[in-house]
Amino acid sequence: MSDKRLERLLPVDRWPTRSEAAEMRLFQPLDVGNVSLRERTWVPAMVPWRATHEGEVTDAVIAWYRRFAEGQPGAIVVEATGIRDVPSGPLLRIGHDRFLPGLKSLTDSVSEASDGRTRLYIQLIDFLAIKRRPPKEKFLRRFLQVDDQLRGRLEAEGLTDIAHADEHALREALIALDDDRLDAVLPDRERESLRMGYRERVTDTELEHIRELPEVLPGLFADAAERAMAAGFDGVELHYAHAYTLASFLSARNDRTDGYGGDRASRARLPLEVYGAVRQRVGAERTVGVRFLGDEVIEGGSHLEDAVDFGVRFAQAGFDFLSISKGGKFEDAKQPRVGEAAYPYTGPSGHECMPTVKIDERGPFGRNVPLAAAVRAAVRAAGHETPVIAAGGISSPWQAEAVLERGDADVVAAARQSLADPDFFRKIRLGHGDQVRRCFFTNYCEGLDQKHRAVTCQRWDRDFESPDPTGLRSADGKRRLVAPPWQP
Ligand SMILES: Cc1cc2nc3c(=O)[nH]c(=O)nc-3n(C[C@H](O)[C@H](O)[C@H](O)COP(=O)(O)O)c2cc1C
Ligand code: SF4
Repeated sequence: MSDKRLERLLPVDRWPTRSEAAEMRLFQPLDVGNVSLRERTWVPAMVPWRATHEGEVTDAVIAWYRRFAEGQPGAIVVEATGIRDVPSGPLLRIGHDRFLPGLKSLTDSVSEASDGRTRLYIQLIDFLAIKRRPPKEKFLRRFLQVDDQLRGRLEAEGLTDIAHADEHALREALIALDDDRLDAVLPDRERESLRMGYRERVTDTELEHIRELPEVLPGLFADAAERAMAAGFDGVELHYAHAYTLASFLSARNDRTDGYGGDRASRARLPLEVYGAVRQRVGAERTVGVRFLGDEVIEGGSHLEDAVDFGVRFAQAGFDFLSISKGGKFEDAKQPRVGEAAYPYTGPSGHECMPTVKIDERGPFGRNVPLAAAVRAAVRAAGHETPVIAAGGISSPWQAEAVLERGDADVVAAARQSLADPDFFRKIRLGHGDQVRRCFFTNYCEGLDQKHRAVTCQRWDRDFESPDPTGLRSADGKRRLVAPPWQP
């Protein structure tokens, strides 16, 4: 325990004894919808990039969830899983019945490994197209739309010759311009496509498939949820957070004029219609929860007042739980390198989503809890008992207990601390907290995620001395894929 990085962590002077743990709120049961959690501990969704390129469950996917399940948390949420039957790289998918056998073996494995103690939900995601940042010449020769708007801008910039040139000559002349000049003449979206890569928005209603999202999404989510039920999940978590389609409908930046954008009620309309379709298909017995943002942390985006409003609407509609996240948007993402796609966890909002010890003076610990607390207070004031799940820099038992004691949330989720030590909660429950392998909160894991490489943790992925019953290795053979086993 001599590592300097440990000194930056939230100190734990003393870990609870087993009998103290038995009294802790953290380890008391809780009803979530019609299903009871054995304890108020939760591993939120984390994409480990272990599916096949066709989105199928692999042995490595199963090993990832088995290992979390051995830690027997109250619930695990399976990573963001695509609801459409379209290629999406090694992201897990649920857009067709052919995915069912793999998903069924996943639910069976978790049930066995947790001894039936852990509830398993799956996060359902829809996302819009995003392209890699193109080389400048390729963009200007092939993708740039040459129209009157562009010619007008060239004219306004005093580039009259180019403005009146034929299309081929115009494109070649643009290639010859320096970057500042080029940025000045390109319309905003074209400039963004050049500098960041093309990205669709829910407000691009001139595109038929975007205009029709309100007609299409309820059915797609409902079909996916029905498959999740058939695969044996205890419920679904609808992904309305971060950079994805439904989050973009909720965003204050959504100014659609078709009744699905503008004021809060209109922005919440499609998310609620999706919920209605899902609930109808899933029934009351199984769980339908939602993850959404307490704050988008972007200019012109939604903030806590919006989240509070949405939380009450969601509770009123009948969601079984509300899981609160923060940030993770494309709008402030770092510019990707040519040939790479923008990643929504690279800018200030992304840093709030998975805060590190370097984020600022306040640090990452419990950083996003106040958002969950505000949503919960509003939901309770409106007369709903819907459980609220808080995440973000949770890594100590006393900190987790304080969240519950203050009534900031009903369930405490730990993503990275569970990755660092999948037995985090179990070790505390059994009085072995001193054996917890603590998370450094420096985001080595997130760096792998960004590159779509199999996610592992720096605290164990080069530990080849400890046993590894799975024998699984990363593609380059240099990392083990599963944390060492632990026995009390
Ligand atoms: C590698 C990685 C992948 C993640 N994937 C998802 C995801 O699929 N869906 C999601 O809602 N959040 C995702 N998150 C965010 C976490 O669920 C969590 O909200 C965030 O890491 C903050 O919690 P923590 O401080 O306990 O890690 C991911 C986080 C990490 C580190
Ligand atoms: S790799 Fe991720 S989970 Fe592991 S210690 Fe670093 S931040 Fe924590």
